[in-house]
Amino acid sequence: MYFSLPKEYREADLAELNDRIAAARDKLGRKLCILTHHYQRREVVGCGDYLGDSYGLSKIASEQTGVEVIVFCGVHFMAEAADILSGDHQMVYLANPLAGCPMADMADMADVMEAWKYLEQFGGDKRIMPVSYMNTTAGLKAFTGRHGGLICTSSNAPAAFRYALERRDKVFFFPDENLGHNTGLKFGLKPDDMVVWDFSRDDGGLTESQIDAARIILWKGHCHVHTNFTVEHVRQVREEHPGIQVIVHPECLPEVVSLADGSGSTRYIVEYCDEAPAGSTIAIGTEINLINRMAYQYPDKKIFELSGQVCPVCANMYRTTLNDLAYCLENYADLKPVKVNEPNRSEALTALKKMLEIS
Ligand code: 13P
Ligand code: SF4
Repeated sequence: MYFSLPKEYREADLAELNDRIAAARDKLGRKLCILTHHYQRREVVGCGDYLGDSYGLSKIASEQTGVEVIVFCGVHFMAEAADILSGDHQMVYLANPLAGCPMADMADMADVMEAWKYLEQFGGDKRIMPVSYMNTTAGLKAFTGRHGGLICTSSNAPAAFRYALERRDKVFFFPDENLGHNTGLKFGLKPDDMVVWDFSRDDGGLTESQIDAARIILWKGHCHVHTNFTVEHVRQVREEHPGIQVIVHPECLPEVVSLADGSGSTRYIVEYCDEAPAGSTIAIGTEINLINRMAYQYPDKKIFELSGQVCPVCANMYRTTLNDLAYCLENYADLKPVKVNEPNRSEALTALKKMLEIS
């Protein structure tokens, strides 16, 4: 998709953009709701009606029955989920339509279908429940719903795994190998209970006996932002700052998560910073915009990024600017909304509703 912001919006200064956004908001009044994810730039967060993690924002989207226009400042899979969960009379727009999620792209529909076809000889959906991370396309959410599975986010993955393993022998989880692995460990499973389906190899690179013995089949996908954090980073901050708290997102590598003092969704990280006593020192392993916002918001606490070396920026989250937001709000009537069509919509809705029920 090619998308270029008109010059008028590209060249507007901050004051003008803020004025135009405020005017558009006034004009639309209660018809409009702006949702912003925790990884958005601080100035974009400042323009939102709601700020949240991917679970919280999907729940809020499902509750905005009186609203006609939902503008999502986040990435594509989040706007798709908002469209599925909102009513037919509501339109969802992604403030920057180019903002995708490279991790979601690692689970290609055809690859997942090929894996599932192979897994059918192990009992298919009689024995295996697909559990899809929110970071997937609507087509994969629909596949999950069609086979009796459910969606999860990092805030409810343990509950989703419990739901699945109480009903079937195995979980087929995609696309984040690390969140799946970390959740399995939290759930008391041993590393041998989990196998990784490598979509670039025949039969996922697994033997029949490995699949037979596994409780969780993980997709070989990852977040390039969170996998930058290493065990060495944790050791180093502990050495340099005795008493420090290390908090990470569960998309980080299992060896990093196991060394951290806490792990959880972006909402968990925000709440952790909020509740920590003044004078606390906290190193965070997640996206830099959230970390910088926490450091700014809590000047009485020492909050910084865990690695000190790499800049963990999610380029896709960073894509959305005030320029995009102003353009979207002033021109939404001529823009293409994010739309999930039938039958994907109903099937994905079934899987998303299950997530909302168990959370
Ligand atoms: P949360 O569900 O914790 O908001 O995370 C979404 C995400 O994309 C993390 O990289
Ligand atoms: Fe996707 Fe990672 Fe960005 Fe989250 S931080 S939206 S998982 S690329």
